[in-house]
Amino acid sequence: MSSCDGRVVVITGAGGGIGRDEALLFAQEGARVVVNDVNAAGAEAVVEEVRALGGEAVASTDDISDWDGAGRLIGTALDTFGGLDTLVNNAGILRDRMFVNMSVDDWDAVMKVHLRGTFCATKHAVSYWRDQSKAGDQRVARIVNTSSPSGIYGNVGQANYGAAKAGLAAFTQILGEELWRYGVLSNAIAPSALTSMTEGLTGYKERLDELEARTGWKNPGGPEHIVALVVWLGSPLAQVNGRVFDVRAGHVDVAEGWRPGPAYTKEGGFTVAELDDVLPGLIARAAPQVNAAGEPKSYGG
Ligand SMILES: NC(=O)c1ccc[n+]([C@@H]2O[C@H](COP(=O)([O-])OP(=O)(O)OC[C@H]3O[C@@H](n4cnc5c(N)ncnc54)[C@H](O)[C@@H]3O)[C@@H](O)[C@H]2O)c1
Repeated sequence: MSSCDGRVVVITGAGGGIGRDEALLFAQEGARVVVNDVNAAGAEAVVEEVRALGGEAVASTDDISDWDGAGRLIGTALDTFGGLDTLVNNAGILRDRMFVNMSVDDWDAVMKVHLRGTFCATKHAVSYWRDQSKAGDQRVARIVNTSSPSGIYGNVGQANYGAAKAGLAAFTQILGEELWRYGVLSNAIAPSALTSMTEGLTGYKERLDELEARTGWKNPGGPEHIVALVVWLGSPLAQVNGRVFDVRAGHVDVAEGWRPGPAYTKEGGFTVAELDDVLPGLIARAAPQVNAAGEPKSYGG
């Protein structure tokens, strides 16, 4: 008995990188997989890899940010495998620039794939799950979204991408609150792995090479190290809802989100002078913003 026996899993952007390793592990854990990617050759190649492992998979080359394309993707799961149990929203792109150089096209392209794309695929999947629930045939459904350390801790050069990924963390929490009644649990990962997306980022590969040299650990940036979490979240084993998990090779944690900090309350409104008196003390007592290692961040000066 494997964690995903008999389940049908749709993975967006699975023609390479993290999505490819997700497809391979879901298949090894017993799932039938729809491998989606606008990179058709990549999607077909991953389908062949799944079949070579003895698994079942089908390719979808639809653009998930296109409403009808996302509908065809979910339809492919229903038509080919007769249902849908897990949606992994993984597709993504980068358009990194310092904000002063960022164009509105850089902004829109990133929002389109991450936010609109995740919305479109999720909306079609949830329509199916809601219908199933109303018909008295509720699925043990799971959504796994892909946020990023950039979204929950911030990262210089990624104002567009970080804003989209923070949006996906909030989207995950709200889906968690709304969809459990249809049998759907929603969680997200904030991964770090060496893929075609990250190999060009300054210092990223160098840090991993240093880690490999120091520890002898083979390929510490490999996405294969992080996908067990995604399979767990996409399986009935996971009874968790509305959470974001940091994950990289050898490390997983439950990210703790925004929470109300030191407060000043009174009946009635505030004046500017009053806030000028009170806020510096509250700010001094508030927990600092931290990076992905939990270390306080510097905001200039
Ligand atoms: N690699 C990391 O360290 C890292 C860190 C944080 C978050 N992520 C996120 O993980 C996910 C996977 O990234 P990756 O590192 O494997 O990158 P990748 O570039 O290897 O994979 C992303 C895939 O998404 C596909 N894609 C892009 N737009 C699409 C669309 N509209 N419809 C369908 N497919 C589309 C691409 O063709 C590509 O194959 C992304 O959401 C990324 O933002 C990655």
